[in-house]
Amino acid sequence: MKKKILFILGTRPEAIKLAPLISRFKSNESSFDTYVCSTGQHKEMLDQVTDFFEINIDFDLELMTKNQSLTSLSSKILSSLDTVINEVKPNYIFVHGDTTTSSFGAIAAFYNQISVGHVEAGLRTFDKYSPFPEEMNRSITGRIADFHFAPTNEAKTNLLNENIDENKVCVTGNTVIDALLYAVEKLNNYKNEEIEILKKTINKNKKIILVTGHRRENFGQGFQNICNALLEISKSKDVEIIYPVHLNPNVVDTVNKYLSNKSNIHLVKPLNYPAFVWLMNKSYIILTDSGGIQEEAPSLGKPVLVMRNNTERPEGVKTGTTILVGTETKQIVKKTNDLLANKELYDSIGQIKNPYGDGEASIRILNFIKSESNIK
Ligand code: UD1
Ligand code: UDP
Repeated sequence: MKKKILFILGTRPEAIKLAPLISRFKSNESSFDTYVCSTGQHKEMLDQVTDFFEINIDFDLELMTKNQSLTSLSSKILSSLDTVINEVKPNYIFVHGDTTTSSFGAIAAFYNQISVGHVEAGLRTFDKYSPFPEEMNRSITGRIADFHFAPTNEAKTNLLNENIDENKVCVTGNTVIDALLYAVEKLNNYKNEEIEILKKTINKNKKIILVTGHRRENFGQGFQNICNALLEISKSKDVEIIYPVHLNPNVVDTVNKYLSNKSNIHLVKPLNYPAFVWLMNKSYIILTDSGGIQEEAPSLGKPVLVMRNNTERPEGVKTGTTILVGTETKQIVKKTNDLLANKELYDSIGQIKNPYGDGEASIRILNFIKSESNIK
């Protein structure tokens, strides 16, 4: 008997990380009917991804509003999903990671007594407010989920420590590596206007420092510190900073206030995925608070300085692909300059094997669900 799968996604990273999995299920048409529902938690930043990966959205709830609050978005997601779930009547609902879309998607699935598959399960900082609200979002989803697709053994251990049944946990690697490898391959013969503009923007003779940031716990003082650190780093004549600024007004307003029209700093709009991958490849160092970028950069041999006080991705810190630098100006500047000055350390980081995956995560998830459903 064919099974019906409903993917619920809403933000840029969910779409990037679910794209390879959606494509796997879609290419198994004889076993699965696959549907995709976007909550529209993100708008422009989501469209960039669905276009590139050619994801067909069957249901678009179009919920994003400017500077949305967590509570209003959550309640709208919950009340809107019932109609979709009732129409599709899926056997399984898949959610990803730790966003408002994923946790409230999981709750909606639970209220309708539909089995939940959680992709990127088991990440924890054990700090309720950092990252906020993601730490609680993924813990809630973990309580509800029936199947837990843990990217690493550490993530699996976190789940087992919460008394999750080991038979329902599958270590898969992170699907973001599947997505990244697909993008790198497609970039070989791909015309992309944003890449052409970037080629004209960046100075090939300088070391490119790529920056992104959007974490809620960094709003206010944290972002001011980060901007001050970037101003300090940009004084060095052999570096150039390029910063695709997240569209959250709490980010854009601060970043524009401190960093507009400064020499050696380019502020640009969020880049489409292939352009961002291209730019990561051209960078020397990446400064970020992003989760996905911590996972992708090691595959491209790029060191990541994580501008946060903790991370649910300890594997990179342990193996040395990422360095946790916090959000104090002095420390960000020092760690960046140390790395710029130490070629030996820099080169050694580039050699470290990516601890987050091998590009086969989606097929492992598909096979797990096939086996659960007694599909050969
Ligand atoms: C969300 C997720 C976060 C994830 C991040 C990825 C939650 C609570 N937060 O944070 O876990 O790491 O996405 O980027 O789920 N906006 C636009 N256009 C867009 C996207 C956002 O204008 O395409 C603006 C809107 O004003 C929106 C605001 O950004 O209200 C905040 O978006 P929201 O999804 O609530 O939070 P993020 O900071 O993007
Ligand atoms: N990314 C992108 N364009 C950008 C910045 C990031 O496509 O301008 C990609 C990046 O490669 C990664 C994902 O977006 O796959 C990370 O998203 P984000 O940092 O918004 O969220 P997080 O991973 O922290 O949840």
